Amino acid sequence: MRIYKVGGAVRDRLLGKPVTDIDWVVVGATTEEMLAKGFRPVGADFPVFLHPKSGEEYALARTERKSGRGYGGFTFHASPEVTLEEDLIRRDLTINAMAEDDQQNLTDPYHGQRDLEARLLRHVSPAFAEDPLRVLRVARFAARYAALGFTVAPETLELMRQLSDSGELEALTPERSWKEISRALMEDQPQVFVEVLRACGALKVLMPEVDALFGVPQPPAHHPEIDTGAHTLGVLQQAATHKQPLTVRWACLLHDLGKGLTPEQEWPRHIAHEFKGLKLIKAVNERFKVPRDCQELALLVGEYHTHGHRALELKPSTLLELLQSFDIYRRPQRFEEFIAACEMDARGREGLEERSYPQADYLRGAATAARSVAVQPLLEKGFKGPELGEAIKRERLKALKAYKETAST
Ligand code: CTP
Repeated sequence: MRIYKVGGAVRDRLLGKPVTDIDWVVVGATTEEMLAKGFRPVGADFPVFLHPKSGEEYALARTERKSGRGYGGFTFHASPEVTLEEDLIRRDLTINAMAEDDQQNLTDPYHGQRDLEARLLRHVSPAFAEDPLRVLRVARFAARYAALGFTVAPETLELMRQLSDSGELEALTPERSWKEISRALMEDQPQVFVEVLRACGALKVLMPEVDALFGVPQPPAHHPEIDTGAHTLGVLQQAATHKQPLTVRWACLLHDLGKGLTPEQEWPRHIAHEFKGLKLIKAVNERFKVPRDCQELALLVGEYHTHGHRALELKPSTLLELLQSFDIYRRPQRFEEFIAACEMDARGREGLEERSYPQADYLRGAATAARSVAVQPLLEKGFKGPELGEAIKRERLKALKAYKETAST
């Protein structure tokens, strides 16, 4: 039995990046031998085991062949005769298809090291097409390594285009897609993920609502970059620069979807795009079974981001409605994330990346003012039920009026 490190661990060591988890491939062994050594099998489907002590994944060398649509449609063949080279050729990218023994001797039959030096994401063989998820994976790696100068090889982009056109992406499960999307959004240059998906035609399949934003103009006075797609990418980039959490990044990606529905004769204005976009945001949320906190924030940011921008001009009653919609009393964090998304939206515009955003502190101050209303004195006055609710609202409105007056002096 021979054991090699494979995949990301080899790639990242050669790139000088920290290695977080290590995958191993075992050549020349049977399942029985692995079990006898105390390895624990992972599921029933694949010949993959967990090391009894380290918990790391050890897979028997295998060949794979696609036998149907989607992820379930795989047959694989694992036996002691399968060679390391045969195992490596079924992998996605040349830079992920290198193996290393315990002396750090590299096995690199598909020239991964050459592609690392050339900064190229290149597929290993036509077997790439057997797992359509790889379209998203390549886009994610492009986002991760963009700062190092990596790009997708033209022939790989072509293969990704064919996969996107073939209808295979529709067979991906929401869970697998979301895992890639969410990881890609957390990279340093998440906008590259969207750009690469767009370049190969996958964005049109996965998120036609985002794809539709490209080519839609906005008023140059507020949006020097003009194009709504370019703006969305800029907002996403800002969110990454400012280390925002996934919820905020997801909301940034979807905040302007309504602009894709504006009739051309109304361009470059987008009246009521906030409301029009809600059904699109909902559709994308549901398509990928997005976690609840991301879903909620995306809908709230979609509906209220222009309120955020106009915060200083809002009437106290509108300000109160905004705060109530966010349930700031029980969900303070969510309101902070809304403010962050609004700020990213304001900065994700060409030449305006460094602008200040006084709305942020103003909104925080308004939330503090509304929260400072104490309920106890109202209870003592005898209010209860719906009347109590009304009385609290009146007091909050008073507090917001006072806040607005002091803030403007
Ligand atoms: N792999 C593949 N096709 C996939 C998934 C994985 O070919 N759809 C192979 C690649 O060789 C990859 C290895 O399995 O390097 C391990 O996969 P995974 O742990 O998902 O990715 P890593 O390359 O380790 O990358 P990351 O740093 O993103 O975890």
